[in-house]
Amino acid sequence: MSLARLWESLLPLGRDNRTGGYRRYSWTEADLACRDWFRAVAAERELPVHADGNGNLWAWWDPPGSPPGGPRTGAVVTGSHLDSVPDGGAFDGALGVASGFAAIDLLRERRSLPVRPIAVAAFSEEEGARFGVACLGSRLLTGAMDPGAARELRDGDGITLADAMAAAGHDPGLLGPDPALVDGIGAFVELHIEQGRALAGSLVAPLGVAEGIWPHGRWRFDFAGQADHAGTARLADRRDPMLPFAATVLAARECAGRLGTLATFGKVVARPGGVNAISSTVRAWLDARAPDQPGLDETVEQIGVAAGRAARQHSVAVTVTAESRTPPAGFDRALRDRITRLLATAGTDVPALPTGAGHDAGVLTAHVPAAMLFVRNPTGVSHSPDEHADPEDCEAGVAALAAVLENLACR
Ligand code: GLV
Ligand code: MN
Ligand code: MN
Repeated sequence: MSLARLWESLLPLGRDNRTGGYRRYSWTEADLACRDWFRAVAAERELPVHADGNGNLWAWWDPPGSPPGGPRTGAVVTGSHLDSVPDGGAFDGALGVASGFAAIDLLRERRSLPVRPIAVAAFSEEEGARFGVACLGSRLLTGAMDPGAARELRDGDGITLADAMAAAGHDPGLLGPDPALVDGIGAFVELHIEQGRALAGSLVAPLGVAEGIWPHGRWRFDFAGQADHAGTARLADRRDPMLPFAATVLAARECAGRLGTLATFGKVVARPGGVNAISSTVRAWLDARAPDQPGLDETVEQIGVAAGRAARQHSVAVTVTAESRTPPAGFDRALRDRITRLLATAGTDVPALPTGAGHDAGVLTAHVPAAMLFVRNPTGVSHSPDEHADPEDCEAGVAALAAVLENLACR
């Protein structure tokens, strides 16, 4: 089936041979190779591709006889993202894009024809791995992110998003909301590998549908102390920013456990970074998520208080800056029920489950009816080279997605 071929051609792009993980950061060579892959796959299928002003890619299958260049309305869009976290797995995002093309192949084999436009989309910088803001492409598209602020976002080397896009041949002046494109979408259905173990555990099903996405966000903690000599500075004289940082990590774990939320410090940069020196600064990022907004607010508040207390104990300064906030997302109930009924009629029961993982569908759902299909992940591991989904489950995902696209967009 075509998914296997698509998958083989995408697998080598942006993979680090030492770790086996993916480093597909937006607007880097690896990302541009993925974008070329998307264009080539679409061209093979004679699907015209357009990049919107935010660098999101759209491959269109228009109803026969559609006027070229005419406005598209009621479009049924699927897809996901091609960028990755550092050493991410092969499936997160990529499975949704490849499955979108494979679903179109299946519909064409069956000689189904769209009466509404169908698109496969690949959204830019979903992971926020390079510029810090998750779902950046869909946020910009829908007006949830200010384009001026986006242009000024910097990566770890100080390169702005505007410069990175310009170097890749994309005009950053075009960033911003595109109401005509968004208003032309009748439904968005994102297929994604599950990033937990619900389908492999309590629910025992190859596929599921998303109920909603927990509120989540990212906060930068900057601890500023005094650089000094590791062999001569007396313990009592030190202003070591590593100490309140360490206390804050432990406080985050304790707080999340007590409140039933999630709190993770997954990235930390100590400067200047000498083994035999006390750091001058420690910069670290908190990712926090919770089943509801009050739980999230409480978690972040308590971790901030703990950081302030620990910093004072060590005569260190600390500031906390919110880098991105994502409110809770509920998916369209009518669309979810329609998908569930349709797949049940075809013999596939798809249980509904909430998720703590962020997705472009969670951004789009505030503007268009949106839904998600999850493909079982036997271990639940994600954001890791060990992420895996079985080929039979992926094929079941393509078949389900094709049935959904057919139901929503074909005669
Ligand atoms: C994206 O995968 C996220 O949940 O951060
Ligand atoms: Mn991810
Ligand atoms: Mn993803």
